[in-house]
Amino acid sequence: MFGLVNKGLEDMVCSQYGEETWEEIKSKADVEIEAFISMDAYPDDITYRLVEAASAVMEMPATDVLEAFGRYWILFTATEGYGSLMEMAGDNLPEFLQNLDNLHARVGLSFPNLQPPSFLCSELEEESLKLHYYSDRPGLTPMVVGMLKGLGEKFNTDVDIQLTNRKAQGNDHEEVSISHKPKCPFKQHLHRSNN
Ligand code: HEM
Repeated sequence: MFGLVNKGLEDMVCSQYGEETWEEIKSKADVEIEAFISMDAYPDDITYRLVEAASAVMEMPATDVLEAFGRYWILFTATEGYGSLMEMAGDNLPEFLQNLDNLHARVGLSFPNLQPPSFLCSELEEESLKLHYYSDRPGLTPMVVGMLKGLGEKFNTDVDIQLTNRKAQGNDHEEVSISHKPKCPFKQHLHRSNN
């Protein structure tokens, strides 16, 4: 994957656990790269090894590392100069999710040979939808769950996420049922004025 992804992982670990922990993770993962370059492509295996090692060093399941990373990604991409791309993709969660492929297509203009995942929305209702996640890469669904939680925070929206039809059960993609409800602005206002 592009260095941007590995850099995001590094940024998350360093901000929460410090640089020494990141060095320990890299050494455990047998990764000798001093600094990742955002626009350079690295074998996917490096990312998977880093996640495995982070899981061992930080003593948490790899799925939790991926979920935390997915959440972090939503903030990280904005700090790396992709904030306006994120803003353009939608004003609310359902609109944004329907634009994910457009967003990655735009990312692909500056990242040659990008292999992005693909997302499709179906059963669009007022407060729910089904998200279909297609990828050739295995095991990254927890990262998608984290991203959806991060997007809920970004859009000030309560989200409930259920993995309904899994690849592990023979489906050719992951299906995620999402309920979403914007948090009441009035209540937030009350909350703020109480502090
Ligand atoms: C401006 C924001 C974003 C940028 C710059 C970005 C960029 C990227 C890049 C560079 C990759 C690696 C692909 C490769 O190296 O071939 C990637 C993968 C991925 N992106 Fe995004 N992305 C953004 C937002 C999102 C959002 C909001 C989601 C939410 C669901 C998302 C979901 C994913 C997933 C799940 C992968 C892992 C690869 C896979 O599943 O095959 N991305 N993205």
